[in-house]
Amino acid sequence: MDLLTIDSLSDRQIGEILDRSQLLFEENRSATRAVQTLTGRIVFNLFYENSTRTAMSFATAAHRLGASALSLSVEHSSVKKGETLDDTAATLGAMRPDALVIRHRENGAPARVAGIVEAPVINAGDGTNEHPTQALLDAAAIQHRIGHIEGLKIAICGDIRHSRVARSNAKLLPRLGADLRLAGPLELMPNDIPQLSIDEAIEGADVVMMLRVQRERLEEDLGDAPGEYLARYGLTQQRLARAAPEAIIMHPGPMNRGVEIDSAIADDPVRSLITLQVEMGVAVRMACLELAIESDS
Ligand code: NCD
Repeated sequence: MDLLTIDSLSDRQIGEILDRSQLLFEENRSATRAVQTLTGRIVFNLFYENSTRTAMSFATAAHRLGASALSLSVEHSSVKKGETLDDTAATLGAMRPDALVIRHRENGAPARVAGIVEAPVINAGDGTNEHPTQALLDAAAIQHRIGHIEGLKIAICGDIRHSRVARSNAKLLPRLGADLRLAGPLELMPNDIPQLSIDEAIEGADVVMMLRVQRERLEEDLGDAPGEYLARYGLTQQRLARAAPEAIIMHPGPMNRGVEIDSAIADDPVRSLITLQVEMGVAVRMACLELAIESDS
C-alpha cells in the first residue's frame, strides 16, 4: 500500500497507525526493543531535498523493525548525469525493494514514482504539497502528551503557503476532531484561507505549532530586518501568554531560533514537545512501514 497523502488513508488506518505508534514509542524506550516485524526487508530512501529528521527517522525505523534501510545519495547519483525521475524509479524498482521512501521538490513526485515501482511508496514530503508522516507524528505526539485530539484548539503559524506540514495537518487534525487555526504573514498565506492574525490564532490555543519560513521556496525575499519577523509574527513570551495556560509548543524542525520562535520557548522543558515530536517520528514511521509493507504481502 502506498502512503502518499492523508486523504489516501481511511479513518481506520489512521487509528491503527496512531495506536501502534504509542506502543512502538514505549517499545523503543525499553531495553529489549524486540520488534522485528520486517526482518530481512529492504527499504530504499530517496531524498532529493535536504533532511535530517525525516531521513534519519525512516532509516532508524526500518532498522528497529529488522529491515535494512539503504539511502541513495542523490548528490552522487546518476540524477546528476541527467537521468529522469521516471528512469530512476524504474531502475530502483527493478532491484525489488520492499518499500521506497521519497522526498522531492516537485508536488506529486511520490505519486508518479508509485505509478512506476511495484513496491509501496511512502511520501516523505513533496514540494509544497504533503508530508503525511509528519502530520501523523504530530498527532501522535499530541495524543501522547494530552491523551486526545478531539476538541483541542490547535494553531499552526508561520509560512503556511509553502508548508507541506501544514497542508497534511490541515487534513488530518480536523478529521481527528481538532479546531484548527492557520495564520501567518499575508505573503506567506495561501489565497484560499481566511486571514487571521497570529495573535487571533493563538488566543486560547491548547497547541501552538510554529513553522519555519521556507526562504528557499520564496521567489522574492521577505526583506525583513533582523528580529523583525520574531516581533511581528514569531512566538514570543508575550504572544504565548494569549494561549491556554498550559499550552504546548510544537515545531516540525528545522527551527530558525529567534525568527519564528523565541529560543527559550523552544527549549521550555515542560511545554515544548519538539524533541518528543522527533522521538515519536521514529515510532510513527515504524508503524507506517509496517502498514505499507505488510498490507502488500
Ligand atoms: C519540514 C519539511 O521538510 O517539510 N521538516 C520536516 O520534515 N520535519 C519543514 C521545513 O522544512 O521547514
